Parts: sequence; structure tokens; C-alpha cells
Amino acid sequence: MDEQKLYPDDFLDLKLNERRAQDALRRLRVADGKVDLCSNDYLGIVTNGLIGAGAGGGGILSLPHGSTGSRLLAGNYPLIERAERSIADFHQAEAGLIFNSGYDANLGVLSCVPQRGDTILYDQLCHASIRDGIRLSFAEAFSFSHNDCEDLERRLRTVRSAGGGTGSGAANGSRIFVVTESLFSMDGDLAPLETIVGLCRTYGAHCILDEAHATGVIGGAGEGLAQSLGLQDECLARIHTFGKAVGCHGAVVLGSERLRRYLINFCRPLIYTTALPPASVQAIADAYRLFPTMRMERERLRQLIGRFRQAGIGYQRLDSHTPVQVVIVPGNAAVRKLAEQLQQAGLDIRPILYPTVPRGGERLRIVIHAFNTDEEIDQLIRLLK
Ligand SMILES: Cc1ncc(COP(=O)(O)O)c(C=O)c1O
Repeated sequence: MDEQKLYPDDFLDLKLNERRAQDALRRLRVADGKVDLCSNDYLGIVTNGLIGAGAGGGGILSLPHGSTGSRLLAGNYPLIERAERSIADFHQAEAGLIFNSGYDANLGVLSCVPQRGDTILYDQLCHASIRDGIRLSFAEAFSFSHNDCEDLERRLRTVRSAGGGTGSGAANGSRIFVVTESLFSMDGDLAPLETIVGLCRTYGAHCILDEAHATGVIGGAGEGLAQSLGLQDECLARIHTFGKAVGCHGAVVLGSERLRRYLINFCRPLIYTTALPPASVQAIADAYRLFPTMRMERERLRQLIGRFRQAGIGYQRLDSHTPVQVVIVPGNAAVRKLAEQLQQAGLDIRPILYPTVPRGGERLRIVIHAFNTDEEIDQLIRLLK
């Protein structure tokens, strides 16, 4: 088709051509049956059809596929409130509030909880949804070096000595928020949460924790990092997303009843959007009954991760004990080429390019799943020798 005859939007090419020149143009591709070493379906809930019609029950299909309105209007219903209650109980939180996605949840929490005069300190590798929420917030924000508690403490000290963080417990004064992720999606490492929470206590700061990639994976029942360390009560808000190991879509923000009330009143990505439909919420509720029991799958994941980590390969890799294994291949062209070779060998592994990661840190993000076979991991190792 001749694009010139369509709407004259050629001004968009200016930035697209910049991306092309950096060899970083993003394209959508359809999964085509290769060995899955890239999805976030860590436990295989989606791959093995464990929820919904694929699980042999037509229950979800008979539920409405539309919610007909925002949570504040027609889109609230008993099933969504029951699901929130039981998910909050599972995660040992006073209350939970379901959002349409993890992106919405982070955008919403970060844009409305920290207020004018407050300070947000966030890990430099925090997800785009956290950063976008921070950009919408009226608070001041500074990043700290990835997982670097000394840098975080320096910044906490600086904010305190400038008079910030004096109102942590009271309504007046300014507050400090420390934002991090449990399991970093592009590096596969875990936050030093005990130290971070300790610093929050010392400096009167509030911890906000994104548990997206830890949900279903970290902890004996997949409860996440905070709970597995007994630190759930030290976080102002925990965000668990349902699109990864939970095998569904959506997210929950966990915290106090007061936080829930506040979000219902001030959180625009919750208020001004149509709620998830009952069919989706039933799937989430079913997944929350299932994944805590998937201990064998979590054990199998550990075995496969160990198998991959113990093998020698011809590339530098990051130190990760989680399903996200990272192989550094500097340069967009080089990492694209290696990913293409792996694709041709039948392994679905995607390159992560600059500007998603810093220049020189271009990488293969390899995701190991409970359903991968020993042979698949061995083939991967051979191809990376
Ligand atoms: C750390 C982190 N937080 C939040 C999100 C967004 O979650 P969702 O995909 O449910 O919008 C992602 C998704 O990639 C993520 O990696």
C-alpha cells in the first residue's frame, strides 16, 4: 500500500527515522510456536490452560465480558469486592483495590499519593509505569543508584537536612517516599528490601513496593518478597500485578483501608476508566486459588534456573537467581543478531535494546519457566557457548 496517499502524517517519520538510525525501531511480532523463553508466564498458568475455559470449566465464559462503567459508577459489583478482600487476606494486607493493569496501578499510586512538597526517591531501574506516575505527580523526585542502599541513605539524609520528610506520621509537613521493585524485570535481581525498609524506618520515609515479577514466584506460596521477609506491614503500598505469573490481567494495590479510600477518591487511572469485567475478575480469583498451591512448579523453576546458571557460556551475564536471566551483548545490532540466531534455532528469546536499557547494556532477556524442559535449557546453553 502506498502510505503517501493516506493521511499526511509524515512528520511522525522524524522520530521514527531516529529510531531506525539507532537500529532500535520496535516492531510487533506474533508468537509463532517457538520454545517460550521470553514470556512472563513463569508457572505456565496460561501455557497449560489452567484457568477458565481451557481448564475444562465454562464458568468464566458465562460471566459478563463488560463491566459497563467505572468502579465509581456502574462498574462495581460483588465479585470484584470479594476478590479484593480475599487477595488482600492472602497478602496479609488490611485492604486491596483492583486496577485494570499494573501500569494503571503504578501510574495511579505514584501520581496521587506523593503530594506537592513531598519527595520521591526511586530506584533508577524502576519500571516505566512508576516513572510515568512520578512525572504526573507534583512531588519532587530523584533516582538512587540501582539497589545501592548507601546512595539511597545519602539522598535520604540530603532530603531530611533540607527540611523534607518532617510530616511522615502527621497530616502536615512533607513526606519522603522510597519506591522500588521486588524483582527487577530487566535485570532479574531482587531489591535489598530489609535494608531499604530499615532506612525508611530510620528516616521516617514511606516504602512503596512493586511486586509485579515476584508475585507467584517469590515465597513458599508465591506471596511476594515483602511477605516472604515478614515486611508486609512496613510498606505503605504494595502493587501486585496479575499479568505475569498469575496468568491473567490487572493488578491490586495493597495497603490500609485509608489508602484504599484515598485512591477511590483521588486516583485518576482508577476513577476515569471502565472497570475490569466479571469474567476477568473470576479468572484472577481462580488464579489466586491455584498459584499458591503450585509448589512443584516453583521447585522446578529453581532447578532449571540452577541448570542454566551452572553452565558456562561465552557471554557476560548478570547475577540473578530468578526466572529472569540476563545475557549482556553490547550494541543493538549485535544483540539483535544473536537473538535472530536463537530464533532461527527455534527459541523465542527477545533482545532488549537501547534506549530501553543503557548503551552498552543491551541484552538478551531470557525467561525460564516451570514448563521448559531440560533439553530446551541445554540447547540454549549450547547456542550461547
Ligand atoms: C515491574 C513492573 N511493574 C508494572 C508493570 C506493568 O504491569 P501490567 O503489565 O499489568 O500493566 C510491569 C510490566 O511489565 C513491570 O515489569
